[in-house]
Amino acid sequence: MCGIVGYIGKANAASILISGLKRLEYRGYDSAGMALLDDERILITKSTGKVSNLSEKARTNWSPELFQRATTGIAHTRWATHGPPTEANAHPHLDQSGEIALVHNGIVENYRALRSRLEGKGHHFYSETDTEVLAHLIGDCDKGDLFQAVCDALHQVEGTFGIAVLSSREPDRIIAARRGSPIVIGVGDGEAIIASDASAILAHTQRVMYLDDNDIANVTMDSVEIRDLNNVPVTREIAELGLDASATEKGGFAHFMLKEIHEQPEALTNAIRGRLDLQLGSSVLAGMGTSQRELAELSRVVMVGCGTSLHAAMVGEYAFEDIADINAEVQQAAEFRYRNPILGNRDFVIAISQSGETADTLAAVKEANQKGAFVMSLVNVVGSTIARETGRGVYLHAGPEISVASTKAFTCQVSVLLMMALKLGRGRRYSREEGMKLAREIESIPELVARVIGKNDLIADIAEGYTKDEHAFYIGRGPMYPVALEGALKLKEISYIHAEGYHAAELKHGPIALLQEGTPVIAVACDVPGKDKTLGNIEECRARGARILGIITEGDDEAAEVMDEFISIPRTHPLVATIPAVVALQIFSYHVARLRGCEIDQPRNLAKSVTVE
Ligand code: F6R
Repeated sequence: MCGIVGYIGKANAASILISGLKRLEYRGYDSAGMALLDDERILITKSTGKVSNLSEKARTNWSPELFQRATTGIAHTRWATHGPPTEANAHPHLDQSGEIALVHNGIVENYRALRSRLEGKGHHFYSETDTEVLAHLIGDCDKGDLFQAVCDALHQVEGTFGIAVLSSREPDRIIAARRGSPIVIGVGDGEAIIASDASAILAHTQRVMYLDDNDIANVTMDSVEIRDLNNVPVTREIAELGLDASATEKGGFAHFMLKEIHEQPEALTNAIRGRLDLQLGSSVLAGMGTSQRELAELSRVVMVGCGTSLHAAMVGEYAFEDIADINAEVQQAAEFRYRNPILGNRDFVIAISQSGETADTLAAVKEANQKGAFVMSLVNVVGSTIARETGRGVYLHAGPEISVASTKAFTCQVSVLLMMALKLGRGRRYSREEGMKLAREIESIPELVARVIGKNDLIADIAEGYTKDEHAFYIGRGPMYPVALEGALKLKEISYIHAEGYHAAELKHGPIALLQEGTPVIAVACDVPGKDKTLGNIEECRARGARILGIITEGDDEAAEVMDEFISIPRTHPLVATIPAVVALQIFSYHVARLRGCEIDQPRNLAKSVTVE
């Protein structure tokens, strides 16, 4: 969603801010803005639409000399929440004096009350945003010490924030703070970069400090001093990012999504490496931070997540029940805390999130912690809020996922869930022989996925036949049911074709009424238990004129026969097969969207990490 970049140092701030914002574009946004400090004045340029619009406008508004000269500034990409994506609503926002500028991610929940109080004191607002209210509040608290003013203002804020604040009265520092919305500070040599996401920092330095909730940082070109909101110093270690800037570049692919689809064999190798014990038929997941004995005492697994991560959890549900012989359930993270879930210390709650920043998943983690459950996370972004909030967890090691549509995170999530189920299962009734067999199948996942990626051209040809459709149905059963849901989600989000996923048996309870001559039905009918019934459901669709594209197992002639066309995936364990099956659907969606001329990496209205509820 929104993105923050701030720079203080000796270099050209405007270029650094713009290239930082470009690296944050993948998060999704609809307007952008930048404030530079020059000659003890704050100068602001904003624009709707892309960062390139902002860049052009800044070059028109500001002289080349100013552009070159300013060495301190803050910038923002906004994903509209309070008020439409207009220039007036774009950040940075100024306080009443015009001498303090603020960029903000998150939501000030009590902004109405704060605004009317400030209006009562004579403040005037030009935007509809909660952020402008916070800028005024900081200005109102400023009695000559910006750091203290930010502390005092944040004490009055209910809600979430990641902020960077600049004052023309104190030009040698930027104040940054966080609560529930990430802030990372890159510590360079005579310079510092503040960002909401490490990808904006990568090109400058590998050395970063992550702020914790309620941390406030005084950032100068030579130092970073962090205190809590009561102005008490706290120590945050400098961490190494360990990421190459090329990880956030397209590397010759037309789109990040295509690159990330192709990266899957490598990402999966990284997710699996060192985590399988082929001799014991088990897995080694140190991040779970628990012994086999404690695992054996757990009575239930509850997985929470949103969107694609929720679909991975649904595959996990089958895995935990089938392999680990333990009750497993999936709960939509947004609903979790409102249903007052029944949880205790024998419940194992797994929060699944690529970004580690999804607001609903984070709230579910807090609720599970509150109720004393055994909580861990399955997250991709190292140091993200959910990873920090859970304390224990397993990272995916999938590398940065830039495309809004999640691909490699899903396949890595499912692989790690399979390994978790294996670890739990081996402490219960899963035999060594079964464990060894499954461990070998899991080990082969990168190779299975590479074989499906090898069918890219064939899948692209098939996709040509689906570019004119406006509706599509995806069906599957057993662990292939969440695969069908994920396939439908991928197609709708990037190609804007209305696609729905259903359990194969569910169609005839209503949705079959929509089938007409030629309606596409994408049937995930791999050779796993229940396939025969799915083939029966496919016949029902065919009888109503539907056009069937099957995802089937290689060599399954029986399945091939009922399909109009098909993509085959290698034969493997039924749960493992969900991974190559989904990869086939990712590639299919990608090509349909490409052929329809869609903006694949940043689909309309979507954001990469959804940090509002
Ligand atoms: C779809 C997609 C989203 C995310 C969802 C959760 O392609 O990417 O549905 O899966 O917003 O995000 P994370 O996994 O970051 O919590």
